[in-house]
Amino acid sequence: MNKGDPRLELVNRFFSGTGTTYDFMVNFATFGIDRRWKRRIVDLLPLNPSRVLDLACGTGILTLAIARRYPDCQVVGVELRDEYLEIAREKVRRLGIRNVEWVLSRAENYQSSEPFDCVCSSYLAKYADLKRLTRNTTDMLNDGGLLLMHDFTYPPKAYLASIWRFYFKTLQLAGSRLFPAWREIFSGLPRFIEQTRWVSELQEALRENGFRDIRTEHLTAHGSAIITARK
Ligand SMILES: C[S@@+](CC[C@H](N)C(=O)[O-])C[C@H]1O[C@@H](n2cnc3c(N)ncnc32)[C@H](O)[C@@H]1O
Repeated sequence: MNKGDPRLELVNRFFSGTGTTYDFMVNFATFGIDRRWKRRIVDLLPLNPSRVLDLACGTGILTLAIARRYPDCQVVGVELRDEYLEIAREKVRRLGIRNVEWVLSRAENYQSSEPFDCVCSSYLAKYADLKRLTRNTTDMLNDGGLLLMHDFTYPPKAYLASIWRFYFKTLQLAGSRLFPAWREIFSGLPRFIEQTRWVSELQEALRENGFRDIRTEHLTAHGSAIITARK
């Protein structure tokens, strides 16, 4: 890890010790909605891609969904934390999946000499240096290739925001007691999501790097969003 970088320190503080319960928690805490969001991401990929890059792949939930939908596609999962990547590696061994490669790296630093048809991510945007990431991604995409980023958003309407706050309050009170390893993330994530400007920052970075067809799709009562753009 790059010591001294506040983004990485936050990621380390949030995710330390959560790897083994991550797959359960992402479903439990979103009432299964994460599955729907992941399906939407896979549906938005270009048809029959040859190479797809999944940045901040975590335990490989999205990476494996792509690899299974497109068995002839080479899928590369990049992740910062070996704790998470080890779980992803074990899944691939157990399931006998052959079209996935895992790389331990910060997303912003990853480089590949072979280009991709699509670079995607789920729950990375709010932690990332989006200017650097977008520049780096541009170099790795084929012309016409798709960049897709998905992450949480803060609902803009007052009544949705109050439901959202009630939901996180419940997670903080009950969830932290039941799952102590998740205390840091339950208490820090709501304010972080409220303050992040990842949607406007990514839109700007995409414009600066000459992307076209920049689209923003809001999901499930503005609880998250997907931005897509073509190189
Ligand atoms: C909430 S998990 C999401 C994992 C996976 N994408 C999913 O949707 O299930 C966020 C992941 O992002 C990783 N992460 C955060 N910032 C990163 C960065 N700059 N580069 C690579 N991975 C990063 C964390 O280590 C963590 O595994």
